[in-house]
Amino acid sequence: MKKEVVVIGLGYVGLPSVINHVKNAHKVIGFDIDKRKVDILNKGVSHLDTVSDETVQMLKEKGTLFTYDEQLIKEKDIYIIDVPTPIDKNKIPDLSYIKSAVDLIKNKVKRGSLIILESTTYPGTTEEYLVAEFSKLGYHIGIDLFIAYSPERIDPGNTQSQSVKIPRIVAGYTDKCLSQVKDFFGSHVSSVPNLKTAELAKIYENTFRLVNIALADELQKISDNLDIDVGEVLEAAATKPFGFMKFTPNLGIGGHCIPVDPYYLTWLMADRGVETPLIDIAGKINDSMLDYYLEKIKDLTTASKKDFTEMNIAVLGVTYKKNVADVRMSSVISLIKKLKEKNISIVAYDDVMHPYSTSINETVINLDQDYQQLMQYDLVIYAVDHDVYEEKKKLIMDKSRLFYDLTTV
Ligand SMILES: NC(=O)c1ccc[n+]([C@@H]2O[C@H](COP(=O)([O-])OP(=O)(O)OC[C@H]3O[C@@H](n4cnc5c(N)ncnc54)[C@H](O)[C@@H]3O)[C@@H](O)[C@H]2O)c1
Repeated sequence: MKKEVVVIGLGYVGLPSVINHVKNAHKVIGFDIDKRKVDILNKGVSHLDTVSDETVQMLKEKGTLFTYDEQLIKEKDIYIIDVPTPIDKNKIPDLSYIKSAVDLIKNKVKRGSLIILESTTYPGTTEEYLVAEFSKLGYHIGIDLFIAYSPERIDPGNTQSQSVKIPRIVAGYTDKCLSQVKDFFGSHVSSVPNLKTAELAKIYENTFRLVNIALADELQKISDNLDIDVGEVLEAAATKPFGFMKFTPNLGIGGHCIPVDPYYLTWLMADRGVETPLIDIAGKINDSMLDYYLEKIKDLTTASKKDFTEMNIAVLGVTYKKNVADVRMSSVISLIKKLKEKNISIVAYDDVMHPYSTSINETVINLDQDYQQLMQYDLVIYAVDHDVYEEKKKLIMDKSRLFYDLTTV
């Protein structure tokens, strides 16, 4: 049945969510506090690399409203919360966006509304921040208001992962809440018995990735010490058709999921007096890789006539991941900062970074098509293997006086 849906937060998760619900013939309002994003969307332009301008125009043609006007989101059938859940500099979860989204809709929901939290967060959040708050207002959850949790699982940069095809985990505060959220999402849902299970499952998925990437990082160190090519070890191991999954070493995992979500769990467990040594050490290994690779880069340049600190260096690719335009928590940006602290001259290139991507202080430019300009550098650090660079990798290598590949494993 056609519903009136409000999506709160029009970022990497929220805007694709709007698209899915419009495609399912619902009437959708996209709400964001960031006026710049709303204005851009209303002009038919996408602020995300993962969504085309044509798609935004299609949404507009189908009557989708993008707004920052709180009055326009009153008394709708469904509210979906897609706001950020970052960590602070001490790796402490910041739930303020969820709190502000709940405050926003507190006096706007109607009897019978379904509220779905999709942001990644620690087990207990939906009950503490939604169920408790709305109960205080006099709602009987599961009777006159419905609350559910369904984590998003999109994989940015992975063209095969379209959120509609990935099974969704769904959980409700009561059976009625669950049946409502299941009905809304339709096929491809996997229901779990309670909210906390769904919340923990999502965090566990990303913690699983962190721990396994950290193991691959350690394999990098082991292989280097034994003078073995880590990429060849991984390829060999990956020929096993069962019981092995290939993860690759990394300068440091970027983005806003894997380097963030596990800390929701360690924070929660520390508060409850439970140790999480494996996750803790995986995080530390991940954090150590930048300095490790920096030493490797220095070693490579020892044969060169110039001192490392006097080198003129180009870095190719600054986003946090291949084919992704987003720079949030990119380790390449941290690498550039470290090099700059040593007064090393750096020029950063990225031909995928999106103009509306999170602003950064670094100047990032595009490469000339013939890659001629690379010849002026003492060293080219190939940091992100965007397809546009991979297609011309041989040319890039030929034009580089000294080439360091951070992406081959
Ligand atoms: N990006 C991903 O690949 C991905 C994948 C799975 C899960 N997640 C999770 O989804 C959630 C959202 O992530 P994202 O990447 O879309 O974040 P994002 O930063 O791209 O977008 C969040 C949007 O919410 C808006 N916002 C903040 N507070 C608001 C409020 N009170 N009212 C309305 N809008 C508000 C921001 O302006 C922003 O546009 C996070 O919990 C994240 O961990 C992200």
